[in-house]
Amino acid sequence: MPKLKILGVGGSPRKNGNTTKMVQKALEAAANVDGVETELYELAGKKLNYCIACYKCLEKGECVFDDAVNEFIPKFLAADGLIWGAPVYHMSVPANMKALLDRVGNLMLSHFLWKGEMMPRFNKVCGVLTNGGHRNGGQDLVLSFLGGSCIMLNGILISGETVMGSYIGASAWTGKGMDLSGKDNILEDNEGLMCAESVGKRVAEVASIVKAGMVALGDKLPSEYTYAW
Ligand SMILES: Cc1cc2nc3c(=O)[nH]c(=O)nc-3n(C[C@H](O)[C@H](O)[C@H](O)COP(=O)(O)O)c2cc1C
Repeated sequence: MPKLKILGVGGSPRKNGNTTKMVQKALEAAANVDGVETELYELAGKKLNYCIACYKCLEKGECVFDDAVNEFIPKFLAADGLIWGAPVYHMSVPANMKALLDRVGNLMLSHFLWKGEMMPRFNKVCGVLTNGGHRNGGQDLVLSFLGGSCIMLNGILISGETVMGSYIGASAWTGKGMDLSGKDNILEDNEGLMCAESVGKRVAEVASIVKAGMVALGDKLPSEYTYAW
């Protein structure tokens, strides 16, 4: 069987900060599962316009903007599993992550409609993680939002390790006294990092099970589960 691909998305506007380190922890755990290869995609520094609702994607099958979304889409399509990570910004996700999800979500619908098809059952196994500068700074809201986005993209959302309090994904607290700006503060939240590991491991395990099931079904796999861009 070809290697299973797990893509981690670091959704912070700043490079190699707490979110990226948390996603990397999850990817390391995923890579320990047999037959898995991982890739990190950081949004920091990427040009990413927000959706302007022009609906040209329905006419052309592609977005009017040529930016990071075009780089991201082949990676998304090739992934068997995804780990979506974002910091908490004002009780929600940062604007770049929202822009990515709005654009990718709409394009997945409209590209396939443009081809005369329905959006495929992508079946991508997804885990979500976040970190905030405050202990209760809106982490659950971010996890809910990211989880909802996974489901909207026809993904399979997995939980973390419920015993560790990681119900719908992994969350961490990066506040160190009043220092909210440190890019390494996450390294002091062992519990948050352990939750990230459990999410990464489970994404890889469930993605292996799903892939094995799809291979075993062969010709019996309903057509909406296979697709070409
Ligand atoms: C514009 C902005 C808004 C923020 N809003 C929140 C918030 O609502 N709740 C919270 O807990 N932390 C908030 N934070 C803190 C970040 O979530 C925290 O520093 C996080 O660890 C940053 O992740 P990064 O290092 O990957 O960029 C905010 C930070 C910024 C810059």
